[in-house]
Amino acid sequence: MTELLLLNGPNLGILGRRETEVYGTDTLADIEQMVEKEIADVGWQVRSVQRESEGELITAVQDGYDTVGAIVNPGALMIAGWSLRDALANYPKPWIEVHLSNVWARERFRHESVLAPLASGLIAGLGATGYVLAARALRSLVAD
Ligand code: DQA
Repeated sequence: MTELLLLNGPNLGILGRRETEVYGTDTLADIEQMVEKEIADVGWQVRSVQRESEGELITAVQDGYDTVGAIVNPGALMIAGWSLRDALANYPKPWIEVHLSNVWARERFRHESVLAPLASGLIAGLGATGYVLAARALRSLVAD
């Protein structure tokens, strides 16, 4: 089975009831379905992991070396998630960082991502659509 890793960090399991004016009303289950739909015709499946703690996200990355690529929304771990960064440095496939909100239009502490330099690309500010676009990008990156 070919799987795409969909990794979401702290506070992203409560999408749909979390600051909807910032993050929108789509739930994580809605996003999973959207990504599933985007990759269905290439025969990939979604391995969705959302965790509140960095260690568990690292385990998911390490357990995901056999996945075809990854979409990563690290939440606030973008700011200082150095251990997650090191885990992603050893992830052997392309991965894309996604943020629902435009982090550069928000508080200054959200303007740095320690992960982004390692990502194949970064999408921010497009809401749930960002995940769909990331899945589409991975389709072509993996095919290359
Ligand atoms: C977020 C942006 C982060 O700054 C924030 O801590 C989140 C969500 C986003 O998707 O816009 O948890 O990653």
